[in-house]
Amino acid sequence: MTFPDRRLRRLRTTPTLRRLVAETRLGVDDLVAPLFVREGITEPQSIESLPGVFQHTRASLVAEAGRLIELGVPGLILFGVPERKDPEGSEAWNPDGIVQVAVKDLRQAYGTDIVIMTDLCVDEYTDHGHCGIVDDHGNVVNDATLELYRKAAVAQAEAGSDVIAPSGMMDGQVAAIRTALDQNGSENLPILAYAAKYASSFYGPFRDAVDVTIADGGDRKGYQQDPSNAREAMEEIRLDLAEGADMIMVKPALPYLDILLRARLEVDVPLAAYQVSGEYAMLKAAAANGWIDGDAAALETLTSIKRAGADFILTYLAAEVAQMLQS
Ligand code: PBG
Repeated sequence: MTFPDRRLRRLRTTPTLRRLVAETRLGVDDLVAPLFVREGITEPQSIESLPGVFQHTRASLVAEAGRLIELGVPGLILFGVPERKDPEGSEAWNPDGIVQVAVKDLRQAYGTDIVIMTDLCVDEYTDHGHCGIVDDHGNVVNDATLELYRKAAVAQAEAGSDVIAPSGMMDGQVAAIRTALDQNGSENLPILAYAAKYASSFYGPFRDAVDVTIADGGDRKGYQQDPSNAREAMEEIRLDLAEGADMIMVKPALPYLDILLRARLEVDVPLAAYQVSGEYAMLKAAAANGWIDGDAAALETLTSIKRAGADFILTYLAAEVAQMLQS
């Protein structure tokens, strides 16, 4: 061999050659679109911190799901914004609650043409904005909260959800939901566990999207993970799998690619990543200022998330990237 060896450079000479030797391929099948549906509105509402994303009416949600199906996107995940919030978040299990009726609408319109996932948490439904029952000291009570999650899981199952995705980070939530589903005749309904979910500053725009403010300037550091910890994420994942999770998720995505890679090396179940609202907002803000090429950066982030090991990605870019990949 003569040095300098040029082997690596030789394989980068043309776009088709680069395509042929690409190790990671991003496709429309990798995408899941998070969608918001809000009770009591007659027009879709834009969300300032999430340009291009809307709080949908029931009708505009159905239309948006139709557009995703046409683009070939295989999945969506639904978040609800109720008119009425209370300390327990009871709209989360009301059979006529906004997510439950929206799931029925989608099922009726499209059957199984798109996988309808439902986020399961109560923070969008509680008046204090926490993911569970809060005691007199402002702490979220783990085990009492599991009872709420069981009821929400059954309500979502009865509405016709395809995948239940618990995001509240209570200990034992997967086992509690699995048992409730099994007892209710939904043994075949899979659980996508938000297993490694960090107490992240990248959720800000999402809280605008679901009209959530955590009471008294609080945060979720008491139940979501500390960004300093990686080994702990593996413990969370092992526990969720032992409790019966069918798929697991790492969230956020880009600042946690090391966690995704570790998870990929450790588990063989489908692995999801959530490119969260703040990740999307950063891309959009920089692109709007002309500081980065938005389309190229979007594809690069998603390719990186796949390269790290994700099987599919929840992303607000789903529709636009599906469009890019088509053309
Ligand atoms: C909790 C939940 C959150 C997100 C998804 N599910 C917010 C939180 O934990 O505070 C954030 C998603 C995003 O930022 O895009 N129900």
